[in-house]
Amino acid sequence: MTDVIYLDNAATTFPKPPEIYDFMIKFYRESGVNPGRTGCDMALEAEKMIQETRQLLTKFFGAKGDYNRLVFSYNASDSLNIIINGVLKKGDHVISTVMEHNSVLRPLNHFEKDGKITIDLAGADKKGLVDPAEVKKLIRKNTRLVIINHGSNVIGSVQPAKEIGAICREHGILFAIDAAQTAGMIPINMEELNVDILAFTGHKSLLGPTGIGGMYVREGVEVKPMRFGGTGVRSAYPYHLEEYPWRLECGTPNVLGIAGLHAGQLWIAEQGLEQIRKHEMRLAQKLVDGLWAIEGVTVYCPKKMAGRIPVISFNVNGFESADVGLQLDVDHNIITRTGLHCAPKVHETLGTDKAGTTRLSIGPFNTEPQIAKTISAVQEIAKTGLERAGKNKIVYEPSIGT
Ligand SMILES: Cc1ncc(COP(=O)(O)O)c(C=O)c1O
Repeated sequence: MTDVIYLDNAATTFPKPPEIYDFMIKFYRESGVNPGRTGCDMALEAEKMIQETRQLLTKFFGAKGDYNRLVFSYNASDSLNIIINGVLKKGDHVISTVMEHNSVLRPLNHFEKDGKITIDLAGADKKGLVDPAEVKKLIRKNTRLVIINHGSNVIGSVQPAKEIGAICREHGILFAIDAAQTAGMIPINMEELNVDILAFTGHKSLLGPTGIGGMYVREGVEVKPMRFGGTGVRSAYPYHLEEYPWRLECGTPNVLGIAGLHAGQLWIAEQGLEQIRKHEMRLAQKLVDGLWAIEGVTVYCPKKMAGRIPVISFNVNGFESADVGLQLDVDHNIITRTGLHCAPKVHETLGTDKAGTTRLSIGPFNTEPQIAKTISAVQEIAKTGLERAGKNKIVYEPSIGT
């Protein structure tokens, strides 16, 4: 396993820092009981850790309000379902974008199919950027929500959230972002970005385990609960509690997962988010430079990676993306992700909706030699691709401009 070059960090970061595994195991061994249910020291310790994690994440996302409005869920998909279900009413209009992951598109599409809402999707250019002016043009009298992907899991573009958020504020429309790829990857300040609700997942750049995620809901924003049940608080009351965090949480929390997020926050603070990002972006730029120089390779991001996240898609003439991923895995021990990456509209925009792309995504533990090996491996694949391309007619559009 030590020889594996893991470049699928956009799916989930791997490995996690050793301190995070250690903290989780130690915490769960020593205090892994049900918090908020009994008053024993272990339960109090678990409750304290959970509340501290809410505080750490509230600060991390630049939210100004009560840290109890930092609510835990299973993952970003779960949070996005809670948000979409909790905010929309029959007759509402929603604006989203073609850059979305299915965790936004599918819940919205179900609402639309059931006749409850109407949807408009703002387009994107070939660099994966949405124009705030287009979002503004799509606003209608009944627009309740604008919900956008913050950082693309296909081509690493980061949307102008601040400008889109400002338009929403001006029109009294709720603004939510899917920060699955950006939380822990780039600095986020909800206040500066004019964001009302932020959805995150724990297992990507926040460096927690799978099965934990959450959202922050700004004060004054109403999200109706979609699940009801036990909270360990005011048990004689016949209904689910109105107040946060219980309003959007029910049942026993994921103590182990939250411990992972807690340790992740400590690790990111110790390393410095800027330092981690600098390392990842330096490698991303090297990778992009290398891929752009290979004949027969189409790269779906500009030559300069500034302002993006280290998620890079490409194709090799002569091959389907799945073939490239398979060769990288079997022949070179390089882990990638191929296909549509749960974001079909992005691929329609790129013209890759039939073939998909091969995606390389960088994490904190990737190294320069790994990037060099990856470039050589793609070079090798591209050489055979050149011979096949004319025969099997798999030739991609050239890379987009700078
Ligand atoms: C942009 C984006 N949104 C949402 C998700 C869903 O995250 P999760 O699977 O943790 O719910 C992902 C996961 O890849 C993603 O990349």
